[in-house]
Amino acid sequence: MASTTLRIGVLGSGSGSNMQSVVDAVRAGTLDAGIGVVLSDVADAKILDRARAHGIPGQWLDCSPFKTKLEGDAERRCIEVLRGYGVDTVVLAGFMRIVKPGLLNAFPWRVLNIHPALLPSFPGVCAWKQALDYGAKVAGCTVHFVDEGTDTGPVIVQKTVPVFEDDTADTLHARIQVQEHIAYPEALRLLAEGRVRIEGRRVRIDEK
Ligand code: GRF
Repeated sequence: MASTTLRIGVLGSGSGSNMQSVVDAVRAGTLDAGIGVVLSDVADAKILDRARAHGIPGQWLDCSPFKTKLEGDAERRCIEVLRGYGVDTVVLAGFMRIVKPGLLNAFPWRVLNIHPALLPSFPGVCAWKQALDYGAKVAGCTVHFVDEGTDTGPVIVQKTVPVFEDDTADTLHARIQVQEHIAYPEALRLLAEGRVRIEGRRVRIDEK
């Protein structure tokens, strides 16, 4: 795979700190990419304010009538908008909906997600809290390709953090987020450099 300039579309529902880390990497010249558009299913999500503050188009995507998935008309509109901005790589950054085959087939193996746990442990919501409640001594984050399961796609990058005795869900999540902001730009850089090969479940990273 040859190196390319990624044209990224971000989908998020929350604060957008991961999107910010991608913007920062692009600005620093450490990631060959541009963010074409940011879409959120939450009209007043901070991620949209952040995008607009950087001059990136930020749009609310009305996903009704569904509450937990992106399907139907909303999915079609989402694909249309992403294509309209020339997006080739879809970055899920705190997007609190299940994405369906419509989006995945529109961007084959080009939809990435970040999950706040070391998959396959603790898929689903509030993964850092699941890790804490379980009594894990090590936690972390995973950047992976999205497939049709929930948090099941091939892993590109993982980062670990220790779990301390006095951790709360918030302190642990904050420690994990520091690593997320390193992991997402790193995974996207590998993709931009054309060094990522998917072989079944395994993602091979080619040497530079
Ligand atoms: C992150 O913890 C990410 O791992 C999870 O949702 C959170 C999003 O945070 N999927 P932000 O909106 O990027 O700040």
